[in-house]
Amino acid sequence: MRVIVCETYEELSVTAAKMVASQLLLKPDSVLGLATGSTPEGMYAELARMYERGEVDFSEATTFNLDEYYPISPDNDQSYHYFMQKHLFERVNLRPGHIHLPNGAAADVKAECAHYDQMIEDAGGIDLQILGIGHNGHIGFNEPAGELNDCTHLTSLTEDTIQSNARFFANEEEVPRQAITVGMATILTARKIILLVSGRNKSEPLRRLLTGKISTAVPATMLNLHRDTVIITDRAANDGR
Ligand code: F6R
Repeated sequence: MRVIVCETYEELSVTAAKMVASQLLLKPDSVLGLATGSTPEGMYAELARMYERGEVDFSEATTFNLDEYYPISPDNDQSYHYFMQKHLFERVNLRPGHIHLPNGAAADVKAECAHYDQMIEDAGGIDLQILGIGHNGHIGFNEPAGELNDCTHLTSLTEDTIQSNARFFANEEEVPRQAITVGMATILTARKIILLVSGRNKSEPLRRLLTGKISTAVPATMLNLHRDTVIITDRAANDGR
């Protein structure tokens, strides 16, 4: 696993954005797996700037986001639909029909999950998957557990994740307790993975990942099973491990 240590969060964001742009240059119709959260915000901002400068083209790309709260309406400003519109989709030339997120308002969640996996498969799988990492080592909303689901599923958020994500909501009670997430098997079949790790509070899961030992108690450690993962970290996260 290659680890790129950047001096700052800004450098991390620019490095990641350049990799996404290179992927689209090599394969314009790439299928991109996308994450939300604070870590990739800088990368999305840089991609939007690159698009304005004519340095990246999303016109043939397809995207699949990793996860969405459940239940939540797509126009709720705390939804991941809303986040992605604001940070990327309305700022670049992705075609609306090529954008996919799990539907947090689906009446039949099981059918929604199966449909989401089918759409990823029909698109030919993920070429480049962008990931963040939870303090507890979660990937997407694959939370630490004795067993993990392979494919897209409805999951309950751990207390740790609810507390951590409360910063985006008016208060902790408003954080949805469940989410739809792509499973670890789908993530691990991505052809290339870029994991973004920023800040001192991510040092511990980063350390666990880099021990090379694999455990569902720290889902990120499963990335050790993947053949082409690049970790982009800032000094704050790296030096604390
Ligand atoms: C979000 C996601 C989560 C986040 C993780 C880190 O789509 O998949 O696994 O990547 O919770 O979140 P931040 O970046 O806010 O620390």
